[in-house]
Amino acid sequence: MLRKLNYELDYDIYDEYDDASVGKLPLLDKPTGKPGFWHCSICTNNNDESLLSCDTCGVFRDSTGIIDNDSGEKVYGKSKDSRASVMARSLFALSPHQMPKPAVISDIFLAKEAVKSHEKGCIEAYFNDLQKTFTSPHCNHSINIAPFKFDTPSPDDIVSSGKNAARNFPKVPLGSTKASSNITGKKEIVNLLPVNEVSNSSSASSSKDNHIDVSESSNSRDYEDAPQIIADDLHRLKLDKNSKDNRSKKASRNVQYKPEKWMLSDQEQGISSQLNLAVVGHVDSGKSTLCGRLLHLLGRISKKQMHKNEKEAKEKGKGSFAYAWAMDESAEERQRGITMTVAVAYFDSKKFRVVLLDSPGHKDFVPNMISGATQADAAVLVVDASVGSFEAGMGGNSVGQTKEHAQLIRSFGVEQIIVAVNKMDLVEFSKERFDFIKLQLGLFLCSCKFKESSVAWIPLSAMENQNLVTTASDVRLSSWYQGFCLLDAIDSLKPPQRDVSKPLLLPICDVVISHFVGQVAVCGKLEFGALRASSKVLVMPSGDLATVQTIQRDYCPCTIAKAGDNVAVSLQGIDAGHVMPGGVLCHPDLPVTVASSLELKILVLDIVTPILVGSQVEIHIHHAKEAARVTKILSLLDQKSGKVSRNAPRILTARQSAIIEVALDGTVCVEEFSVCRALGRAFLRASGSTIAVGIVTRVLEQGS
Ligand code: GTP
Ligand code: MG
Repeated sequence: MLRKLNYELDYDIYDEYDDASVGKLPLLDKPTGKPGFWHCSICTNNNDESLLSCDTCGVFRDSTGIIDNDSGEKVYGKSKDSRASVMARSLFALSPHQMPKPAVISDIFLAKEAVKSHEKGCIEAYFNDLQKTFTSPHCNHSINIAPFKFDTPSPDDIVSSGKNAARNFPKVPLGSTKASSNITGKKEIVNLLPVNEVSNSSSASSSKDNHIDVSESSNSRDYEDAPQIIADDLHRLKLDKNSKDNRSKKASRNVQYKPEKWMLSDQEQGISSQLNLAVVGHVDSGKSTLCGRLLHLLGRISKKQMHKNEKEAKEKGKGSFAYAWAMDESAEERQRGITMTVAVAYFDSKKFRVVLLDSPGHKDFVPNMISGATQADAAVLVVDASVGSFEAGMGGNSVGQTKEHAQLIRSFGVEQIIVAVNKMDLVEFSKERFDFIKLQLGLFLCSCKFKESSVAWIPLSAMENQNLVTTASDVRLSSWYQGFCLLDAIDSLKPPQRDVSKPLLLPICDVVISHFVGQVAVCGKLEFGALRASSKVLVMPSGDLATVQTIQRDYCPCTIAKAGDNVAVSLQGIDAGHVMPGGVLCHPDLPVTVASSLELKILVLDIVTPILVGSQVEIHIHHAKEAARVTKILSLLDQKSGKVSRNAPRILTARQSAIIEVALDGTVCVEEFSVCRALGRAFLRASGSTIAVGIVTRVLEQGS
């Protein structure tokens, strides 16, 4: 579930913040009551005194700032509640000459802001209309997105127990005329056009597509001495090029689909290309603070709003989270001091309209991270430079979301990554520490098949505004680092490739329902094709037809949305119950496959418990997640050649690649990887960890 943030037009969004409910939440940092243990304020686990970070979630134990080691030598420690909050207190008392320099804002941005200030009344009116449309009189909130509850089962738990699985897609009530016609309609479509027909018009543009994405990195100059770790051979996974099915799909797709003229026309040339930028990394590395600070520097958060965040954060004893609160909106997120759902915000750089996707770093919310970051064109991997915290992210006490997120991001097909080495203030902007992190993490990124040339390394401090939108002013940093600041690094990314010539495909990330007016809107990234108001779309897996009523990009109404755009689309003529996250909007004649059993080519990650026939897993494919069971392990693949090295092995262990079959408890919208990459990447999770990444090689059974 994504939360879209709009500071420009909706200043009073925080008025809905329910202080009363916050008061009822449990206090943080409770004493454990058990001698020899300390209590994690994030996940509430009782940890042994000897552990520096939480055994369950990896959060670094609160320390009291700078620690001295045995030799009396000064080492750097992190303190979330003491040191950082001191810094935050001083942060808001900056004298004018210490105030951050004005951000580098593009002409386009300035022009647009100027236009906006003129048109603000008009846009506000539009927004108010929308707000009204999506506001029930019985509800205080403008949109009907229930935040994930911390005390409820994690997304993983829910999927494992099958409560929130894709099979919960519209179960059409018996006896309903509309419903039965929907079912019939859907079946007819599926029968007429075997779902396999939905293929990639450019034939997955060549045999190159028969490789998993990361193969493209194989020419990269690897970091020397890169360890042979799990991800090393992901690129060797290849699809069967001779697959008859694949050939026929590609052929039929070309014959069947021709884009309309308006799709190819460049009507909205004034708009710079949209870049979906996922901000990922280990819990507490400073992702939300970085996003909040960036938005503030770029004028996307008003002074009034910032002042409000600062005041409220201080009142709640969380002064250091004032910038993070710009992204963390819910009472629970603020009380816990962690992000739980992906927050979406926008800003303009010189080159791009950037869509920031601020992901949760806590391991319990990796499924939410997957759902949001799967839309990414590029990523900012935020690491905490302080001693112990960086190490925890790399897998200190067995959990390390720096690694897990990097691995996942690469598996989403993201090739360009900016590593933001944050909290450099806590290590006194030490070059040695930065170089150490670059070396350690660089080896891992290389093993994930990120090209060295596609990884940018930026030392910065979000809290002290060093190196974000201008070069560093602190001489401790500027004395040895003269490279790009973060904003320039973002502008140096290559614009993502877009394909409007293929049939429409919009995986649904979020659904916003207005029960009051019975209207439904979906949010997500257009993977292929284009949309405009009045376009007819097929909503899968329900198989219902709907009409596009309005489209919004960056909270502004637009007439056409094209591949790559992150949009909100309101639909007409469909029952809200028939639209679900994990579904897909597609071309009326070209429905995506709805599958209940799949063949996957996977790469097993660093797991402890082997994968067996019968293993229960959660499968994540774009925004869909479903409980599943491994029904067959067909073959083990040789790490080097990718050829079958053994048939029907009994178990799969860490770092092996294999072909397996899975039976889903329900159904998901999916495509074979050779047909559509975005719908053909799969992630297997179990016991709260990602255990394998892979691609869909065959749809074995189609569901209905
Ligand atoms: P999750 O979303 O829960 O994974 O956390 P996050 O990565 O978004 O971290 P968040 O922005 O919530 O910040 C965590 C803590 O780190 C807060 O107390 C911030 O004030 C602090 N912090 C963030 N950036 C910096 C920095 O540059 N320097 C210092 N000293 N503290 C920072
Ligand atoms: Mg956060």
